Amino acid sequence: MHRRLIVPGALAASLLLAVPASAAAPTPGAPGIGDPYYPAYGNGGYDVSHYDLRLTYRPATDELEGTATLLARTTQDLSRFDLDFLLDVSEVRVNGAKASFTASGEHELQITPRTPLAEGTDVTVVVRYGGVPSSKSAYGFTSWHRTPDGGVAANEPEAAWWWFPSNDHPLDKATYDVSVSVPEGTQAISNGTLQSRTTQRGWTRFAWRSNRPQATYLATLAVGRFDVTTGTTDSGIPVVNAYSEDLGDHYGAARASVERTGEVADWLAEYFGPYPFGALGGYVPNTTTGYALETQTRPFYSPRQFANGSNVSVVVHELAHQWYGDSVSVAGWKDIWINEGFARYAQWLWSEHEGEGTAQELADHVYASHPADDAFWTVGPGDPGPENQFHTAVYDRGALALQALRNEIGDEAFFTVLKGWPRRYAYGNATVGDFRAYAEEVSGKPLSAFFDTWLYEPSKPAAPAARAASL
Ligand code: ARG
Ligand code: ZN
Repeated sequence: MHRRLIVPGALAASLLLAVPASAAAPTPGAPGIGDPYYPAYGNGGYDVSHYDLRLTYRPATDELEGTATLLARTTQDLSRFDLDFLLDVSEVRVNGAKASFTASGEHELQITPRTPLAEGTDVTVVVRYGGVPSSKSAYGFTSWHRTPDGGVAANEPEAAWWWFPSNDHPLDKATYDVSVSVPEGTQAISNGTLQSRTTQRGWTRFAWRSNRPQATYLATLAVGRFDVTTGTTDSGIPVVNAYSEDLGDHYGAARASVERTGEVADWLAEYFGPYPFGALGGYVPNTTTGYALETQTRPFYSPRQFANGSNVSVVVHELAHQWYGDSVSVAGWKDIWINEGFARYAQWLWSEHEGEGTAQELADHVYASHPADDAFWTVGPGDPGPENQFHTAVYDRGALALQALRNEIGDEAFFTVLKGWPRRYAYGNATVGDFRAYAEEVSGKPLSAFFDTWLYEPSKPAAPAARAASL
């Protein structure tokens, strides 16, 4: 799904009929979608609407195998196209016919259908594959984290390559059915709602459905032995959480934090508007990974987040992303501030709610604790560069910019923006520039100099006027 290319099927078909076929020969789809930070990520020439993944995983050997069926629509006449993928492919079919394929680049699967594909047509692509995800790396790293009893796919921006072939960029969101068979006694956790769970021959198949547009990096798979809890939020959203049985002395703190998911989601809805999805939860596998990730509807948490006891703040962060990042996604990776700045700011609001320091106090602390010569101020959260995509400045300077915006336009306009943005761009994509325009529209104030100072300039901004006046 591609919000910039919404052409109703009937209209597209009538245009094709009305216009004589172009004389130009079909050409290969681009090997990247055109993201300046990551030129090889995603692909050109088509747009995926649905992924159906039917897989089997063997924890003992880390073997994953199965079939991916992609429903897509071409956006140009195509002689061939790419998917992003690392596992070993045994067969590809396009609209039922065998297609030739070859691995190319760091993570490209280049597919040549028997006959070229015309622009604006629906295409079904079936990929049979298998392999050991932990044995694959691209650019020298892996996003498949093996655990003693299974494995988990979670990283940003790269996560899909290790478990399913995709058009790997947030601009191409799709819905998902993820069905995974694992040895009886083991579970498979993914996004959305568990449609069924069936056991036969010593294998249990878990069928998950995520039925709202979802970016590829927000699709997740975790296999292992989990304790599962279920509940319902006050607002009526079903909650499914999962905790590895093997979290050792982190188990209590992990569970005491992630069990707050429903409460936190309802609290966030007061600021951001209704929760955008029909399923909710969180999972904590027994991995040593350092980060958490806002995997759609069901964030991934590392046990390390709970090393010092409960940490509801990280739950607030990952759930804030469900609005800021998952429903409204970056149009390009340089727009990362529209995710991380807001998820961090939500943590500040939670701190205030918990009586542990107001958003203004936390903003003042960030401002004061980084002297002018700190490299922190050289990173502009509005366009941090791929090497600084997850730099602390994107989070902390990013949230500081939001507190400054709040002081600039006033609480009423600020909280109207905070709630209006997830509705304006629901299930779509947006840029930092779109946010500036929206904040200007709501507040009626020109903000381009303000945004330059707080989000782009590679130096420490002068103390905000509101603060200076009160000192
Ligand atoms: N979006 C994630 C979070 O907010 C950050 C993931 C960082 N990824 C990484 N490989 N360091 O927690
Ligand atoms: Zn985040």
